[in-house]
Amino acid sequence: MLSMLGIATPNRTLPQQFTARTHWWANHSMHILVSAGLAREILFDYPSLRHLTEATYLTHPNASLVGTGEGQLFYTNAGQPTLYTYTRDKQRKMTTCKSQAPLYPMIPHAIEEALSESVPEMYPERLHESMRYSLLAGGKRIRPCLTIAACELMGGTMEIAMPTACALEMIHTMSLIHDDLPSMDNDDFRRGKPTNHVVYGEEMAILAGDALLSHAFEHIGRATPAEVPADRTLRVIVDVGKSVGSEGLVGGQVVDIMSEGADADEVTLETLKYIHAHKTGALLEVAVTSGAILAGAGEEDVERLGKYAQLIGLAFQVVDDILDCTQTSEQLGKTAGKDEAVGKATYPSLVGLEESRKIADDLITEAKEILADYDPKLAAPLLGLADYIKNRQN
Ligand code: FPP
Ligand code: MG
Repeated sequence: MLSMLGIATPNRTLPQQFTARTHWWANHSMHILVSAGLAREILFDYPSLRHLTEATYLTHPNASLVGTGEGQLFYTNAGQPTLYTYTRDKQRKMTTCKSQAPLYPMIPHAIEEALSESVPEMYPERLHESMRYSLLAGGKRIRPCLTIAACELMGGTMEIAMPTACALEMIHTMSLIHDDLPSMDNDDFRRGKPTNHVVYGEEMAILAGDALLSHAFEHIGRATPAEVPADRTLRVIVDVGKSVGSEGLVGGQVVDIMSEGADADEVTLETLKYIHAHKTGALLEVAVTSGAILAGAGEEDVERLGKYAQLIGLAFQVVDDILDCTQTSEQLGKTAGKDEAVGKATYPSLVGLEESRKIADDLITEAKEILADYDPKLAAPLLGLADYIKNRQN
Protein backbone atom coordinates (compact mmCIF):
# COMPACT_ATOMS: atom_id res chain seq x y z
CA MET A 1 0.00 0.00 0.00
CA LEU A 2 2.69 2.34 -1.09
CA SER A 3 0.46 5.16 -2.14
CA MET A 4 -1.13 5.24 1.30
CA LEU A 5 2.29 6.06 2.60
CA GLY A 6 2.67 8.80 0.07
CA ILE A 7 5.94 7.39 -1.22
CA ALA A 8 6.90 7.67 -4.86
CA THR A 9 6.86 4.28 -6.54
CA PRO A 10 10.14 3.34 -8.18
CA ASN A 11 9.53 1.16 -11.19
CA ARG A 12 11.15 -2.10 -10.16
CA THR A 13 10.41 -5.69 -10.92
CA LEU A 14 9.33 -7.50 -7.80
CA PRO A 15 9.99 -11.14 -7.09
CA GLN A 16 7.04 -13.46 -7.58
CA GLN A 17 6.49 -14.20 -3.92
CA PHE A 18 6.00 -10.51 -3.23
CA THR A 19 3.65 -9.78 -6.07
CA ALA A 20 1.51 -12.90 -6.07
CA ARG A 21 -0.26 -12.18 -2.87
CA THR A 22 -0.45 -9.04 -0.84
CA HIS A 23 -1.88 -8.30 2.53
CA TRP A 24 -3.04 -5.56 4.70
CA TRP A 25 -2.01 -5.81 8.24
CA ALA A 26 -3.92 -3.87 10.80
CA ASN A 27 -2.67 -3.73 14.34
CA HIS A 28 -3.02 -1.05 16.94
CA SER A 29 0.73 -1.01 17.47
CA MET A 30 1.31 0.00 13.87
CA HIS A 31 0.08 2.98 12.05
CA ILE A 32 0.06 1.83 8.52
CA LEU A 33 -1.14 -1.00 6.36
CA VAL A 34 1.29 -2.16 3.79
CA SER A 35 1.50 -4.72 1.08
CA ALA A 36 4.01 -7.37 0.29
CA GLY A 37 4.80 -6.15 -3.17
CA LEU A 38 5.91 -2.84 -1.82
CA ALA A 39 8.15 -4.06 0.92
CA ARG A 40 11.36 -2.62 -0.33
CA GLU A 41 10.09 0.86 -0.88
CA ILE A 42 8.62 0.96 2.57
CA LEU A 43 12.01 0.24 3.99
CA PHE A 44 13.26 3.51 2.74
CA ASP A 45 10.49 5.45 4.38
CA TYR A 46 11.12 4.17 7.87
CA PRO A 47 14.37 5.63 9.14
CA SER A 48 14.84 2.75 11.55
CA LEU A 49 14.59 0.27 8.67
CA ARG A 50 16.64 2.07 6.09
CA HIS A 51 19.70 -0.06 6.67
CA LEU A 52 17.87 -3.18 5.52
CA THR A 53 18.44 -4.26 1.97
CA GLU A 54 16.43 -6.15 -0.55
CA ALA A 55 18.54 -9.20 0.16
CA THR A 56 17.13 -9.30 3.69
CA TYR A 57 13.68 -9.94 2.30
CA LEU A 58 14.77 -12.53 -0.15
CA THR A 59 15.93 -14.69 2.75
CA HIS A 60 12.23 -15.38 3.34
CA PRO A 61 11.13 -17.08 0.16
CA ASN A 62 7.99 -18.54 1.72
CA ALA A 63 6.97 -15.43 3.53
CA SER A 64 5.14 -12.41 2.43
CA LEU A 65 5.49 -9.14 4.21
CA VAL A 66 2.24 -7.95 5.67
CA GLY A 67 3.16 -5.00 7.75
CA THR A 68 5.79 -2.91 9.32
CA GLY A 69 6.14 -0.92 12.48
CA GLU A 70 9.19 0.80 13.87
CA GLY A 71 11.97 -1.65 13.25
CA GLN A 72 9.58 -4.52 12.83
CA LEU A 73 8.38 -6.59 9.96
CA PHE A 74 5.43 -8.91 10.05
CA TYR A 75 5.35 -11.92 7.79
CA THR A 76 3.08 -14.79 7.25
CA ASN A 77 5.21 -17.82 7.58
CA ALA A 78 3.25 -20.76 6.21
CA GLY A 79 0.13 -18.96 7.33
CA GLN A 80 1.47 -18.30 10.82
CA PRO A 81 1.82 -14.63 11.70
CA THR A 82 5.41 -14.06 12.69
CA LEU A 83 7.09 -10.92 13.90
CA TYR A 84 10.67 -10.21 12.99
CA THR A 85 12.32 -7.43 14.90
CA TYR A 86 15.34 -5.89 13.29
CA THR A 87 17.86 -3.96 15.29
CA ARG A 88 20.15 -1.26 14.03
CA ASP A 89 23.06 -3.68 13.86
CA LYS A 90 21.02 -5.83 11.46
CA GLN A 91 20.31 -8.58 13.98
CA ARG A 92 17.03 -10.35 13.41
CA LYS A 93 14.91 -11.63 16.26
CA MET A 94 11.96 -13.81 15.51
CA THR A 95 8.97 -14.03 17.82
CA THR A 96 5.48 -15.38 17.53
CA CYS A 97 3.17 -12.60 16.70
CA LYS A 98 1.01 -11.86 19.72
CA SER A 99 -1.56 -9.82 17.89
CA GLN A 100 -4.98 -11.31 17.36
CA ALA A 101 -5.48 -9.22 14.24
CA PRO A 102 -5.90 -11.29 11.12
CA LEU A 103 -3.89 -11.27 7.97
CA TYR A 104 -6.16 -9.41 5.69
CA PRO A 105 -5.79 -10.36 2.05
CA MET A 106 -5.87 -7.41 -0.22
CA ILE A 107 -4.36 -6.38 -3.49
CA PRO A 108 -3.58 -2.68 -3.24
CA HIS A 109 -2.18 -2.71 -6.75
CA ALA A 110 -5.69 -3.58 -7.83
CA ILE A 111 -6.88 -0.09 -6.90
CA GLU A 112 -4.21 1.53 -9.05
CA GLU A 113 -4.95 -0.85 -11.91
CA ALA A 114 -8.69 -0.34 -11.68
CA LEU A 115 -8.23 3.44 -11.59
CA SER A 116 -6.06 3.34 -14.67
CA GLU A 117 -8.57 1.16 -16.53
CA SER A 118 -11.49 3.34 -15.45
CA VAL A 119 -10.17 6.31 -17.44
CA PRO A 120 -8.46 4.97 -20.55
CA GLU A 121 -6.26 6.96 -22.89
CA MET A 122 -8.53 7.90 -25.79
CA TYR A 123 -9.71 10.75 -27.99
CA PRO A 124 -9.63 13.64 -27.14
CA GLU A 125 -6.17 12.67 -25.98
CA ARG A 126 -5.27 15.87 -24.16
CA LEU A 127 -8.44 15.77 -22.03
CA HIS A 128 -7.94 12.14 -21.02
CA GLU A 129 -4.27 12.77 -20.37
CA SER A 130 -5.21 15.62 -18.07
CA MET A 131 -7.78 13.45 -16.23
CA ARG A 132 -5.27 10.62 -15.85
CA TYR A 133 -2.50 12.99 -14.81
CA SER A 134 -4.30 13.90 -11.59
CA LEU A 135 -6.16 10.62 -11.04
CA LEU A 136 -3.00 8.53 -11.23
CA ALA A 137 -0.74 10.95 -9.38
CA GLY A 138 -0.41 8.59 -6.43
CA GLY A 139 -2.85 9.81 -3.81
CA LYS A 140 -3.27 8.03 -0.50
CA ARG A 141 -6.37 6.19 -1.83
CA ILE A 142 -8.06 6.38 1.55
CA ARG A 143 -11.57 6.56 0.08
CA PRO A 144 -11.22 3.45 -2.12
CA CYS A 145 -9.66 1.56 0.79
CA LEU A 146 -12.56 2.53 3.06
CA THR A 147 -15.14 1.40 0.51
CA ILE A 148 -13.48 -1.96 -0.03
CA ALA A 149 -12.85 -2.51 3.69
CA ALA A 150 -16.45 -1.66 4.65
CA CYS A 151 -17.80 -3.87 1.87
CA GLU A 152 -15.69 -6.79 3.01
CA LEU A 153 -16.60 -6.21 6.65
CA MET A 154 -20.24 -6.62 5.66
CA GLY A 155 -19.58 -9.80 3.72
CA GLY A 156 -19.07 -8.34 0.24
CA THR A 157 -16.05 -8.52 -2.05
CA MET A 158 -13.44 -6.16 -3.39
CA GLU A 159 -14.81 -6.74 -6.89
CA ILE A 160 -18.28 -5.41 -6.16
CA ALA A 161 -16.87 -2.38 -4.32
CA MET A 162 -14.18 -1.45 -6.83
CA PRO A 163 -16.24 0.65 -9.31
CA THR A 164 -17.61 2.79 -6.46
CA ALA A 165 -14.16 2.92 -4.86
CA CYS A 166 -12.72 4.28 -8.13
CA ALA A 167 -15.61 6.69 -8.61
CA LEU A 168 -14.98 8.23 -5.20
CA GLU A 169 -11.32 8.68 -6.03
CA MET A 170 -12.36 10.39 -9.29
CA ILE A 171 -14.59 12.77 -7.35
CA HIS A 172 -11.94 13.42 -4.74
CA THR A 173 -9.39 14.09 -7.49
CA MET A 174 -11.66 16.46 -9.38
CA SER A 175 -12.41 18.38 -6.20
CA LEU A 176 -8.67 18.89 -5.70
CA ILE A 177 -8.15 19.95 -9.34
CA HIS A 178 -10.85 22.60 -8.89
CA ASP A 179 -9.70 23.53 -5.39
CA ASP A 180 -6.22 24.31 -6.77
CA LEU A 181 -7.50 26.57 -9.57
CA PRO A 182 -6.41 30.23 -9.57
CA SER A 183 -10.00 31.28 -8.77
CA MET A 184 -9.99 29.08 -5.66
CA ASP A 185 -6.80 28.32 -3.72
CA ASN A 186 -4.43 29.08 -6.59
CA ASP A 187 -2.05 26.26 -5.75
CA ASP A 188 0.65 25.02 -8.07
CA PHE A 189 1.80 21.95 -6.17
CA ARG A 190 -0.27 18.82 -5.41
CA ARG A 191 0.67 15.22 -4.68
CA GLY A 192 4.27 16.26 -5.19
CA LYS A 193 3.65 17.42 -8.76
CA PRO A 194 2.64 20.63 -10.54
CA THR A 195 -1.13 21.06 -10.33
CA ASN A 196 -3.36 20.17 -13.25
CA HIS A 197 -3.95 23.74 -14.47
CA VAL A 198 -0.22 24.46 -14.31
CA VAL A 199 0.42 21.57 -16.71
CA TYR A 200 -2.69 21.62 -18.90
CA GLY A 201 -4.02 25.15 -18.54
CA GLU A 202 -7.05 26.41 -16.69
CA GLU A 203 -9.69 25.54 -19.29
CA MET A 204 -8.53 21.94 -19.52
CA ALA A 205 -8.26 21.59 -15.71
CA ILE A 206 -11.86 22.76 -15.27
CA LEU A 207 -13.08 20.41 -17.99
CA ALA A 208 -10.99 17.46 -16.79
CA GLY A 209 -12.57 17.93 -13.36
CA ASP A 210 -16.06 18.10 -14.88
CA ALA A 211 -15.41 14.97 -16.93
CA LEU A 212 -14.12 13.05 -13.91
CA LEU A 213 -17.21 14.05 -11.93
CA SER A 214 -19.71 12.84 -14.50
CA HIS A 215 -17.65 9.78 -15.33
CA ALA A 216 -17.72 8.77 -11.66
CA PHE A 217 -21.49 8.29 -11.71
CA GLU A 218 -21.42 6.57 -15.09
CA HIS A 219 -18.73 4.24 -13.79
CA ILE A 220 -20.73 3.13 -10.73
CA GLY A 221 -23.78 2.44 -12.89
CA ARG A 222 -21.92 0.74 -15.69
CA ALA A 223 -19.14 -1.18 -13.97
CA THR A 224 -20.76 -2.45 -10.75
CA PRO A 225 -21.10 -6.21 -11.28
CA ALA A 226 -24.57 -7.45 -12.16
CA GLU A 227 -24.61 -9.65 -9.06
CA VAL A 228 -25.27 -6.49 -7.02
CA PRO A 229 -29.03 -5.88 -6.92
CA ALA A 230 -29.88 -2.71 -8.87
CA ASP A 231 -31.58 -1.04 -5.89
CA ARG A 232 -28.30 -1.12 -3.95
CA THR A 233 -26.38 0.45 -6.83
CA LEU A 234 -29.07 3.07 -7.27
CA ARG A 235 -28.91 3.96 -3.58
CA VAL A 236 -25.13 4.32 -3.79
CA ILE A 237 -25.49 6.68 -6.78
CA VAL A 238 -28.03 8.79 -4.87
CA ASP A 239 -25.91 8.89 -1.72
CA VAL A 240 -22.75 9.79 -3.63
CA GLY A 241 -24.67 12.55 -5.43
CA LYS A 242 -25.81 13.99 -2.12
CA SER A 243 -22.33 13.84 -0.63
CA VAL A 244 -20.92 15.87 -3.53
CA GLY A 245 -23.59 18.55 -3.97
CA SER A 246 -24.77 21.56 -2.01
CA GLU A 247 -25.33 19.40 1.08
CA GLY A 248 -21.87 17.91 0.83
CA LEU A 249 -18.51 18.82 -0.67
CA VAL A 250 -19.66 21.86 -2.60
CA GLY A 251 -21.56 23.20 0.42
CA GLY A 252 -18.49 22.77 2.60
CA GLN A 253 -16.22 24.44 0.07
CA VAL A 254 -18.58 27.42 -0.22
CA VAL A 255 -18.67 27.99 3.54
CA ASP A 256 -14.88 27.56 3.59
CA ILE A 257 -14.41 30.24 0.92
CA MET A 258 -16.88 32.58 2.64
CA SER A 259 -15.03 32.13 5.94
CA GLU A 260 -11.61 32.88 4.52
CA GLY A 261 -10.16 36.11 5.82
CA ALA A 262 -13.21 36.66 8.07
CA ASP A 263 -12.66 38.08 11.55
CA ALA A 264 -11.54 35.43 14.01
CA ASP A 265 -14.70 35.70 16.12
CA GLU A 266 -16.90 35.20 13.05
CA VAL A 267 -15.63 31.70 12.37
CA THR A 268 -16.60 29.58 15.33
CA LEU A 269 -15.70 25.97 16.02
CA GLU A 270 -19.22 25.12 14.86
CA THR A 271 -18.58 26.74 11.47
CA LEU A 272 -15.29 24.93 11.19
CA LYS A 273 -16.97 21.63 12.03
CA TYR A 274 -19.53 22.27 9.29
CA ILE A 275 -16.77 22.99 6.78
CA HIS A 276 -14.82 19.88 7.70
CA ALA A 277 -17.85 17.60 7.90
CA HIS A 278 -18.99 18.65 4.43
CA LYS A 279 -15.82 19.44 2.52
CA THR A 280 -14.00 16.30 3.64
CA GLY A 281 -16.23 14.21 5.89
CA ALA A 282 -19.11 13.71 3.46
CA LEU A 283 -17.06 11.85 0.88
CA LEU A 284 -15.29 9.75 3.51
CA GLU A 285 -18.66 8.88 5.01
CA VAL A 286 -20.20 7.85 1.72
CA ALA A 287 -17.07 5.82 0.96
CA VAL A 288 -17.76 3.68 4.03
CA THR A 289 -21.54 3.51 3.78
CA SER A 290 -21.47 2.71 0.03
CA GLY A 291 -19.21 -0.25 0.65
CA ALA A 292 -21.60 -1.52 3.30
CA ILE A 293 -24.68 -0.92 1.13
CA LEU A 294 -23.19 -2.75 -1.84
CA ALA A 295 -22.57 -5.73 0.43
CA GLY A 296 -26.21 -5.72 1.50
CA ALA A 297 -25.71 -4.41 5.05
CA GLY A 298 -28.82 -3.59 7.09
CA GLU A 299 -29.73 -0.06 8.14
CA GLU A 300 -28.29 -0.45 11.62
CA ASP A 301 -24.88 -1.37 10.27
CA VAL A 302 -24.95 1.36 7.62
CA GLU A 303 -25.78 3.90 10.33
CA ARG A 304 -23.13 2.61 12.71
CA LEU A 305 -20.44 2.59 10.05
CA GLY A 306 -21.55 6.05 8.95
CA LYS A 307 -20.91 7.30 12.47
CA TYR A 308 -17.44 5.72 12.43
CA ALA A 309 -16.81 7.50 9.13
CA GLN A 310 -17.99 10.88 10.41
CA LEU A 311 -15.55 10.64 13.29
CA ILE A 312 -12.57 9.62 11.18
CA GLY A 313 -13.61 12.27 8.62
CA LEU A 314 -13.42 15.05 11.18
CA ALA A 315 -10.19 13.62 12.57
CA PHE A 316 -8.78 13.55 9.04
CA GLN A 317 -9.34 17.27 8.64
CA VAL A 318 -8.12 18.17 12.14
CA VAL A 319 -4.91 16.28 11.28
CA ASP A 320 -4.80 18.10 7.94
CA ASP A 321 -4.92 21.42 9.79
CA ILE A 322 -2.14 20.26 12.12
CA LEU A 323 0.05 19.04 9.25
CA ASP A 324 -0.42 22.29 7.34
CA CYS A 325 1.32 24.20 10.10
CA THR A 326 3.85 21.60 11.22
CA GLN A 327 5.16 19.94 8.02
CA THR A 328 7.14 21.23 5.08
CA SER A 329 5.85 21.44 1.50
CA GLU A 330 8.18 18.59 0.56
CA GLN A 331 6.74 16.38 3.29
CA LEU A 332 3.18 17.23 2.32
CA GLY A 333 3.59 17.17 -1.45
CA LYS A 334 1.58 20.41 -1.51
CA THR A 335 2.10 23.95 -0.29
CA ALA A 336 2.52 23.99 3.48
CA GLY A 337 1.56 26.88 5.76
CA LYS A 338 -1.23 28.00 3.45
CA ASP A 339 -3.94 28.17 6.08
CA GLU A 340 -2.15 30.81 8.10
CA ALA A 341 -1.00 32.66 4.98
CA VAL A 342 -4.59 33.16 3.78
CA GLY A 343 -6.00 33.71 7.27
CA LYS A 344 -8.02 30.49 7.34
CA ALA A 345 -9.59 29.42 10.62
CA THR A 346 -8.30 25.97 11.55
CA TYR A 347 -8.35 23.76 14.61
CA PRO A 348 -4.83 24.86 15.66
CA SER A 349 -5.72 28.53 15.14
CA LEU A 350 -8.92 28.18 17.19
CA VAL A 351 -7.90 25.79 19.97
CA GLY A 352 -4.10 25.47 19.70
CA LEU A 353 -1.89 22.62 18.50
CA GLU A 354 -1.93 20.50 21.64
CA GLU A 355 -5.70 20.60 22.00
CA SER A 356 -6.06 19.85 18.28
CA ARG A 357 -3.92 16.73 18.68
CA LYS A 358 -6.04 15.64 21.64
CA ILE A 359 -9.24 16.21 19.68
CA ALA A 360 -7.92 14.09 16.79
CA ASP A 361 -6.89 11.34 19.22
CA ASP A 362 -10.28 11.36 20.93
CA LEU A 363 -12.15 11.23 17.62
CA ILE A 364 -10.14 8.23 16.47
CA THR A 365 -10.60 6.46 19.82
CA GLU A 366 -14.35 7.02 19.60
CA ALA A 367 -14.43 5.82 15.98
CA LYS A 368 -12.61 2.64 16.90
CA GLU A 369 -14.97 2.05 19.82
CA ILE A 370 -17.87 1.98 17.38
CA LEU A 371 -16.18 -0.89 15.59
CA ALA A 372 -15.99 -2.83 18.85
CA ASP A 373 -19.39 -4.27 17.94
CA TYR A 374 -17.76 -6.24 15.12
CA ASP A 375 -15.46 -9.21 15.02
CA PRO A 376 -12.03 -7.56 15.50
CA LYS A 377 -10.59 -9.76 12.78
CA LEU A 378 -13.08 -8.49 10.24
CA ALA A 379 -12.89 -4.90 11.49
CA ALA A 380 -9.08 -4.84 11.46
CA PRO A 381 -8.72 -2.94 8.16
CA LEU A 382 -11.12 -0.18 9.26
CA LEU A 383 -9.37 -0.01 12.64
CA GLY A 384 -6.04 0.25 10.85
CA LEU A 385 -7.31 2.95 8.54
CA ALA A 386 -8.49 4.96 11.56
CA ASP A 387 -4.98 4.75 13.02
CA TYR A 388 -3.50 5.65 9.68
CA ILE A 389 -5.62 8.80 9.49
CA LYS A 390 -4.40 9.86 12.93
CA ASN A 391 -0.74 9.11 12.33
CA ARG A 392 -0.29 10.09 8.70
CA GLN A 393 2.48 12.53 7.92
CA ASN A 394 1.11 13.90 4.66
C1 FPP B 1 -9.10 20.76 -0.21
O1 FPP B 1 -9.21 21.57 0.91
C2 FPP B 1 -10.39 20.75 -0.96
C3 FPP B 1 -11.41 19.91 -0.78
C4 FPP B 1 -11.35 18.83 0.23
C5 FPP B 1 -12.67 19.96 -1.57
C6 FPP B 1 -12.86 21.19 -2.40
C7 FPP B 1 -14.17 21.16 -3.11
C8 FPP B 1 -14.40 21.76 -4.28
C9 FPP B 1 -13.39 22.56 -5.00
C10 FPP B 1 -15.72 21.59 -4.96
C11 FPP B 1 -15.51 20.67 -6.11
C12 FPP B 1 -16.70 20.48 -6.91
C13 FPP B 1 -17.44 19.37 -6.92
C14 FPP B 1 -18.59 19.30 -7.84
C15 FPP B 1 -17.18 18.20 -6.05
P1 FPP B 1 -8.04 22.54 1.39
O2 FPP B 1 -7.88 23.65 0.40
O3 FPP B 1 -8.35 22.93 2.77
O4 FPP B 1 -6.81 21.58 1.42
P2 FPP B 1 -5.51 21.53 0.49
O5 FPP B 1 -4.45 22.14 1.32
O6 FPP B 1 -5.28 20.07 0.26
O7 FPP B 1 -5.78 22.30 -0.76
MG1 MG C 1 -6.66 24.00 -1.17
